[in-house]
Amino acid sequence: MSFANDLLTWYDANARTLPWRGERDPYRIWLSEIMLQQTQTQTVKGYYARFLERFPDVFALAAADEESVLKLWEGLGYYSRARNLHAAAKAVANGRDGAFPTDAAGLRQLPGIGPYAANAIASIAYGEPVPALDGNQARVLSRVLAWEEALRTPFDLLEPATGLISRERPGDYNQALMDLGASVCLPKRPHCGDCPVAAHCEALKEEAQEDFPHKSAPVPKKEEDWSILLVFAGDKLLAHRRPKGLLGGLYEFAAVPGHFDRAELSDALTRQGFGGVRILDRLPDARHVFTHRVWRMRGWTASCESFPEDFLPVDSGALAALPFPSALRVYRGIAEELIRG
Ligand code: ADE
Repeated sequence: MSFANDLLTWYDANARTLPWRGERDPYRIWLSEIMLQQTQTQTVKGYYARFLERFPDVFALAAADEESVLKLWEGLGYYSRARNLHAAAKAVANGRDGAFPTDAAGLRQLPGIGPYAANAIASIAYGEPVPALDGNQARVLSRVLAWEEALRTPFDLLEPATGLISRERPGDYNQALMDLGASVCLPKRPHCGDCPVAAHCEALKEEAQEDFPHKSAPVPKKEEDWSILLVFAGDKLLAHRRPKGLLGGLYEFAAVPGHFDRAELSDALTRQGFGGVRILDRLPDARHVFTHRVWRMRGWTASCESFPEDFLPVDSGALAALPFPSALRVYRGIAEELIRG
């Protein structure tokens, strides 16, 4: 039996039950693949259901305002996914009468659909035999092939992966590899005794499963120091909508790059356009690790008499309705307690 057939026989008996399995609607398949790209299956389930309840089709999503899309995405991270999702929905609803492109090359023209998502969607929705190469699939295939070269991206395996894929059931094949990577071909201590494709695995023959994939040296993360200030104007807290870029469209608190004493922070806020600033209490430190950077945050409370016009004074209800990045979870939690009094 071929690699693909052995894999599919196993999948038919062992596929995970997931809300997007068996789905034919490209809108729903697209949404699931975008959510799943950087986020664990368990986490995605709830978001997927809430999102579809609110935006059941591409027209509903296209008609939404960006803030409500971001609010439903809150906590999932990688928010450019949500902004791109919204932009792609508008392109499909308004420019294509609601019809998604029906092959990977066409799908890649839409905002936020890279080579992985294009291949996943095209294989699952339209049966195009293209491999959905993500980190999991790359791990499995690099072991099966005992692939010696360091992988810069999973797509370094495009050629051999295209040779292995099932032409009859490419969508199931891709999802079978995802399931195999999630339950059997684990990064550490893979369960080779339970593996349906063990007979095809070159790494297993060499007893070197955990040596694959060979990775290129990681790029060191950039460490950034930030002072995060919960600044009150009277009994309202000041929030600010981040412009485009990292976490664009989400809200934040007043912030100063670097760690400073009270006098320096007061000067920095004054330079940002705040008036009558008093720096009050020190809050706990927090740290957030992004893909390519780390924020080392030191928190403070402060008060002011006037503030720049791009800051929004909020009470507790308004604060709860604004989308904030997970990076600010600690300070957002403290803010909610303080503002409730
Ligand atoms: N990860 C990415 N896409 C997936 C899918 N369709 N099923 C399970 N896990 C996934």
